[in-house]
Amino acid sequence: MRYGAKVLFEDVSVAFVAGRRYGLTGPNGAGKSTLMKIFSGEIDAQKGTVTRPKRMSVLKQDQFAFDAYRVVDTVIMGNQRLWSALEEREVLYSKADMTDEDGIRLGELEGIVGEEDGYSADSDAAILLGGLGIPEELHERKMSELQGGQKVRVLLAQALFGNPEALLLDEPTNHLDLDSIHWLQDFLNNFKGTMIVISHDRHFLNSVCTHTADIDYQTIIVYTGGYDDMVMAKTQVRARVEADNAQREKKIAQLNEFISRFSAGTRASQVRSRAKEVERLEVSDLKRSNIARPFIKFVSKRPSGKHPLEVKNLTRSYGDQLVFKPFSAHVSRGERIATFSAPCSTTDRSPQPKRKTPPSAPAKSRGATKPASAISRRTIKNQSKKAPPPSNGSTPSTPRPAAKRSAAPLARCSSPGKKAPSPPTRSAVAKPPGSSSAV
Ligand SMILES: Nc1ncnc2c1ncn2[C@@H]1O[C@H](COP(=O)(O)OP(=O)(O)OP(=O)(O)O)[C@@H](O)[C@H]1O
Ligand SMILES: [Mg+2]
Repeated sequence: MRYGAKVLFEDVSVAFVAGRRYGLTGPNGAGKSTLMKIFSGEIDAQKGTVTRPKRMSVLKQDQFAFDAYRVVDTVIMGNQRLWSALEEREVLYSKADMTDEDGIRLGELEGIVGEEDGYSADSDAAILLGGLGIPEELHERKMSELQGGQKVRVLLAQALFGNPEALLLDEPTNHLDLDSIHWLQDFLNNFKGTMIVISHDRHFLNSVCTHTADIDYQTIIVYTGGYDDMVMAKTQVRARVEADNAQREKKIAQLNEFISRFSAGTRASQVRSRAKEVERLEVSDLKRSNIARPFIKFVSKRPSGKHPLEVKNLTRSYGDQLVFKPFSAHVSRGERIATFSAPCSTTDRSPQPKRKTPPSAPAKSRGATKPASAISRRTIKNQSKKAPPPSNGSTPSTPRPAAKRSAAPLARCSSPGKKAPSPPTRSAVAKPPGSSSAV
């Protein structure tokens, strides 16, 4: 696949095995979304073929695309053939004077509706929505009235409406709050079909993926495990190539020394054979690793005071909307703080419904969500002394356990210990040319 002169993939062959959950990774612009569109059939590759399962669904990325539609209709749109037939049927039935052609067409449309289980579509959609934690009173509402996390559930219900064998998701956690991301993780971990997901959220990928398909230098290599396992495997391959290169360079230096010392002498044949050996020993071209990501570092000129920030009885409201009640806290030097809250929409101020376990997985619920409340702001402090400076990306960071949720306005959690990632198993499905250098 190429856009103009830019080659995204060259002769890539890759198989996604049933029942596995793949993370599709690669730097910005590597072609992840393009590949996903090729998989879904939205665009074609310039060369090559794609074999798809019969029932494949794509989780729509744009959470606002269906704002004008009812929730239940948005789900039914997951079956495009049925939805088009239902729409056309409605237009024909609303006509004051129906012609003979209209009558014939209506017969055809009823046939399609029957074939596609259209007569139970509303109840099927309601069952899916219920299973995904969308209460009945929201089914008839417009999508625009829903919160971000609820929208993504409706879009998931849409994707699942046809009971797909494969599910494609391009950055599904965009616009989701933390609780919804956790819910989505649980849901996907219990999805029985094949899943391919693109995300820039390393923790999310570690949590849901059994395999990682990494786009690197116009090809795709499939690794076993999540994002950190993939980075570890790539780092190991790179370290091997670097060590091999160092040995070759040493040998080349020795040979060159021999050549320059005896090139004018009588050992012409030995010099020639060593020159040939130097050519043969060329070091592998080690391209810049695509796992060496940029990082942000804050350098403070002088240390702050022991308690750089202290707040007492803080209250804030916008009009009659109370954002938080009297709230006090102090921040000590070296602490790192995340501020987050339950979603709080302006259209629906009722408590969020209890989140149900995904239909396919009754065993792994995370329990009820805290009600959306104007005063439900919580702060988590990580008291580790110093943040380890982000590496140049070549060393994977250990995924941290989710912070313990607390109803208290201020919760502290100690720094989790380092956990050694499990050794990765690499299964190269498509090797790049000179694969040892493709790190
Ligand atoms: N329709 C298009 N026409 C021309 N170039 C395109 C088109 N779509 C994508 N590209 C280019 O192809 C490359 C890959 O784009 P793509 O969106 O697939 O990358 P990506 O890996 O999904 O990136 P990101 O991580 O930023 O989402 C980029 O350089 C992009 O500019
Ligand atoms: Mg993309």
